Amino acid sequence: MAAEETKKGEATTDALVIFGITGDLARKMTFRALYRLESRGKLDCPVIGVGRRSDWHHETMKERARESIEESLGSIDEEVFGRLADRMRFVAGNFDNAGTYTKLTEELAESERPLFYLEVPPSLFGPIVSQIEKAGLAARGRFVIEKPFGHDLASAEALQRELTEFLDEDQILRIDHYLGKEPVMDITYLRFANLILEPVWNRNFVAYVQMTLAENFGVDDRGGFYDRVGAIRDVIQNHALQMLALVAMEPPSANQHDSIRTRKLDLFEATRAADPAHCVRGQYEGYRSVEGVAPDSTTETYAALELRIDNWRWSGVPFYVRAGKNLPVKQTEIRVVFKRPPHTGIAGDRKPGHNEMIIRIDPTPGARMRFIAKAPGEDTFEDADLDVLFEKEPGAEPEPYERLLDDAIHGRMDLFTPFDSVAETWRIVQRLLDEPGEVHPYESGSWGPTEADRLVKGVCSWAEPWRQIEEPGEGMLLGG
Ligand code: BG6
Repeated sequence: MAAEETKKGEATTDALVIFGITGDLARKMTFRALYRLESRGKLDCPVIGVGRRSDWHHETMKERARESIEESLGSIDEEVFGRLADRMRFVAGNFDNAGTYTKLTEELAESERPLFYLEVPPSLFGPIVSQIEKAGLAARGRFVIEKPFGHDLASAEALQRELTEFLDEDQILRIDHYLGKEPVMDITYLRFANLILEPVWNRNFVAYVQMTLAENFGVDDRGGFYDRVGAIRDVIQNHALQMLALVAMEPPSANQHDSIRTRKLDLFEATRAADPAHCVRGQYEGYRSVEGVAPDSTTETYAALELRIDNWRWSGVPFYVRAGKNLPVKQTEIRVVFKRPPHTGIAGDRKPGHNEMIIRIDPTPGARMRFIAKAPGEDTFEDADLDVLFEKEPGAEPEPYERLLDDAIHGRMDLFTPFDSVAETWRIVQRLLDEPGEVHPYESGSWGPTEADRLVKGVCSWAEPWRQIEEPGEGMLLGG
């Protein structure tokens, strides 16, 4: 099948090859994403799974696909599944064995532009790419790489060197699933499609910004993985910093295809390296008894930090970021808090609170604008919130992996992180990794260690997240 040209330098793939198809990520996410793409009519190529399981063959892969789709979606449309299953092939073999790639080459005989999706541990990225290159398949392919891309700046640079021995940078698509979330994309729409926001979106009006990535569960069965990683590497270096960049970057220029990625890079470059003196790490009680976790582990399951952006727009504005496991709720939100009016001349000598703009990513995507109004019957101020819910029909929008796979298949690079940005984000957190300092215990179900309050002292206190969960589809609601 000839590769269909989409945009200059981009082309639709004609074979999707998934390394690690027998693994957990595939079971939880990939089959579901493929099925959803198939049901939207967006899949148009063979799907070839590669795995080390010698007891697997084409039919086993199809059975696993069916099980995972039924498990995660609750039901299956036989017609859609039939189409998906017809595309599926399985190649069994070790990833370091040339024979595996000979079989793969046979499967790809018709393919001019394969997409290789590496859902494997990071230590295998280099060896697999090298084998693909030896088999003569690398030059015409693109490569989707799962996170983490390195575990610090030096290892990310080493991995980049290893990959670019065989590949060009524009063949590498680094996944951060947050960038595939619709409400994360909404950040740029809110900011740049609403003229009234731009004049106030800067240090003249904004007092501070708070970002919360809270989860109300622990590390579950991922103790062994998580204990080597911790919250800073797991979600701050990637998800939190990517959202920060979207909140704080300059407007993209419409004509430039790669503009958002360029603007984000500018923002990362302007972000000061985080200072360990302005970072608080916490660990929930009971974490050390999780299977796979060292009994004397000092890995953080919570981190709160202050970031500073040294540019014209944000100089002097603190950005506070906190992320943690076993907190009271599962919620991701960004809160832009504006300065108070200098003088009102109303309501006696009372002072109104802050206007705020909250962007909620999870669980119910939406935005809240906090106005200040008159308290009924009293000469005083009261918060009046204008809420907008983004999701019209739950489940209707593409899910993150579905969206990212679709983009990868069609050669749209915007939602994948280029290496220079990855390197910058490692630079921003590197000192926190080098000088981790103390880890403070906190009770599960609390908001983390009380030491985190000191971080924001004198500027603000950590806000309770916007918890009102309205029925999606209600549209705009006015009220507290
Ligand atoms: C992953 C982390 O990247 O993101 C997990 O490894 C975390 O530890 C997850 O739970 C959060 O993603 P989401 O989409 O559930 O907010």
